[in-house]
Amino acid sequence: EKYTMVDQETCIACGTCGVTAPDLFDYDDDGIAFAILDDNEGVTAVTEDLIDDLEDAFESCPTESIKVADQPFSCGKSAAS
Ligand code: F3S
Repeated sequence: EKYTMVDQETCIACGTCGVTAPDLFDYDDDGIAFAILDDNEGVTAVTEDLIDDLEDAFESCPTESIKVADQPFSCGKSAAS
């Protein structure tokens, strides 16, 4: 399984991710991206049909702000209980 989130510290609001993976990434009022699945917590598995989009976005982000892992990220707002 794949999990994703955006490193909002390094995102420069370039806007590529939401174009390559519109079901996975959207932007806040400042244009900074976030993962739609779980409000950028990175704890919800990306569904199979979106894996290709995820990899495209991952590779196209100029600042490598799209984070992808095989396990849930634990640095979200609310840690899994
Ligand atoms: Fe930001 Fe990279 Fe998307 S810079 S807007 S996370 S493509």
